[in-house]
Amino acid sequence: MIQENISLKKYNTFGLNIKADRLITLRDEKNAARFLERNGEKAGKTLILGSGSNILFTDDFHGTVIHPDMGGITLEESTEDYVIVSAGAGVIWDDLVEITVSRGLGGLENLSYIPGTCGAAAVQNIGAYGCEAKDTITRVRALGMKDGLVREFLNSDCRFGYRDSIFKNELKGQYLITRVCFRLSARPSLNVGYGSLKEETGKMGAHSLENVRKAVINARKTKLPEPSQIGNAGSFFKNPVVSGSMADELKTKYPSMPLFSDPSGKMKIPAAWLIEKCGWKGKRIGDAGIYENHALVIVNHGKASGKELLDLSEKMIRSVHEEFGIILEREVQVI
Ligand code: EPU
Repeated sequence: MIQENISLKKYNTFGLNIKADRLITLRDEKNAARFLERNGEKAGKTLILGSGSNILFTDDFHGTVIHPDMGGITLEESTEDYVIVSAGAGVIWDDLVEITVSRGLGGLENLSYIPGTCGAAAVQNIGAYGCEAKDTITRVRALGMKDGLVREFLNSDCRFGYRDSIFKNELKGQYLITRVCFRLSARPSLNVGYGSLKEETGKMGAHSLENVRKAVINARKTKLPEPSQIGNAGSFFKNPVVSGSMADELKTKYPSMPLFSDPSGKMKIPAAWLIEKCGWKGKRIGDAGIYENHALVIVNHGKASGKELLDLSEKMIRSVHEEFGIILEREVQVI
């Protein structure tokens, strides 16, 4: 389906009423391959857009927006210990989590209620409560944007990192993800080590997949705003990772600073803490603001423009840099 001069308000969770020259929705892999084979070379400026839950538009998009909307959740393989499930790039992430949890399959429960689609989950390596999408992704199927040819990426080909993958770097804009395969446990062991997740799950009775999902949903609903009520894209910045020696120095100067060890051996500092310390939590400049319950979330109180939201983020970066000598990196993609 091709739409011209169309508003992307429904396609970005900041609720910005910007327009794209063209929006092309691709619903199945075969048609998508044919379309890219014929038009890929001459498509001009393009942007692949899932549900727009991690994007900030600062202006109208003069080019072609491609919206992958391949559906379907399929059981690919099943053993006594694990199953391989594949999901179309356009499947809503939390629908996949809900269905797999309800079938007693473990691996995605900590990632409950994250907005976005399954294709975007692989690009962004979404994460929460001690888990990341990369922990379960086995393969990513994609089409070359210029020729429509199918390519399969194994987990190790995807170069997953903290909210990062090859699809955001070396191969940015070069592949259209169509399906993602996940290896889920048929004998799940729960991962409730993050924060108060164990306690919250325990309060519900049994430590079960369903209860972990419920506890995660409760936690997210308490801390993070619903995009349908107040425009936002979840965490706006990544948590900065610093060397052990820099972490020691900062801790001496700011004894209450929380620090978490990172798998890289370095230390992770919650960006929310840094931002809150700089006095930004709950502040607003016009309709661009910082959420009152979580300092890492920039919100659109109604009529903020993309540029105003970006300006606010720049002010936050500057003040965190002045106070702590740390440069915050945006998690949200700015267009
Ligand atoms: N904190 C503050 N002020 C706040 C909020 C938090 O000081 O307003 C401090 C607290 O010390 C808290 C710490 O920050 O212990 C961490 O906060 P939280 O547990 O909410 O996690 P986060 O590091 O801010 C990350 C992810 C979230 C994910 C949560 C839970 C990033 C950039 N964000 O946030 O992911 O839901 O952990 O696992 O890594 C997202 O990526 O969009 C997202 C929401």
